Amino acid sequence: MTTTVPTIAEVRAAVAAARAVGRRVALVPTMGALHEGHLALVARAREVADVVVVSLFVNPLQFGPKEDFARYPRDLDTDAALLDSAGADLLFAPAPTELLPDGRTQVRVVAGPIGNTLEGRIRPGHFDGVLTIVLKLLHVVAPDVVVFGQKDAQQVFLVQRMVRDLDVPVAIEVVDTVREQDGLAMSSRNRYLGVEERRLARAVPAALEAAESSADRDVDTMITAAQSALAGEDGAALEYLAVVDPATFAPVDDGYRGRALVLVAARVGGTRLIDNRFVHLG
Ligand code: PAJ
Repeated sequence: MTTTVPTIAEVRAAVAAARAVGRRVALVPTMGALHEGHLALVARAREVADVVVVSLFVNPLQFGPKEDFARYPRDLDTDAALLDSAGADLLFAPAPTELLPDGRTQVRVVAGPIGNTLEGRIRPGHFDGVLTIVLKLLHVVAPDVVVFGQKDAQQVFLVQRMVRDLDVPVAIEVVDTVREQDGLAMSSRNRYLGVEERRLARAVPAALEAAESSADRDVDTMITAAQSALAGEDGAALEYLAVVDPATFAPVDDGYRGRALVLVAARVGGTRLIDNRFVHLG
């Protein structure tokens, strides 16, 4: 049975009780509208810990003024039922005023230079908002391990940096991207896609597959191959396509050899989709 707790005091007490008897605690932070991607994180959490806490909070700090905060899908009952079947122990679902009594924080985490590239260039302040809420959740829940999805690769990179730079005492687990049958990465925002848009969305993973197929060539050839997979589709607009060194998130030079991360963002109708894939260059 998953127990839903709405307050900081209750989740702290429950986690403290578990840790007092030697249990290892995992946290899976989410914004709800759960799908199989989130449930894969819960499954991993169960493998690496004894007690699984899932947080559900649609974090206003990470949405831009023109973004979908107000219409972000919210369905606590469905999410709670899914988590129950997935074997989560605690669902921490605070009201906005519980976690952000002033609506925002005056003090916040600054994500640094990588926070202003790629997703951060298109969504200014997004990663400051993500890291601020993630750090708060880590302080509230104080888990041994926190689980994130590779789907949001830049988020994973920046959380890893924050944990290292600020000496946050937590281990980080990363779970591979869970995909639909046709390759589209699962996302809470996929439910915004109409039938035709859903068909077009297939071009996003297709671009990454094209990149992978030409990874034995140089970086520019790979980027061109990926771009052409999206260029053919009216209604799918590429926002960025980048190849970075996974260790630094800096764009790779044309002569780069080794493991690289290809990142893509595209707008399909009114919906932004992001995806990424590791490739081996050279
Ligand atoms: P949300 O978009 O709800 O995602 C919660 C977690 O699920 C993230 O770690 C994300 O990478 C992971 N996830 C989403 N889709 C996935 C997929 N298809 N396969 C694997 N994992 C997937 O990311 C956030 O919320 C927020 O930024 C949060 C970290 C909760 C801070 O507010």
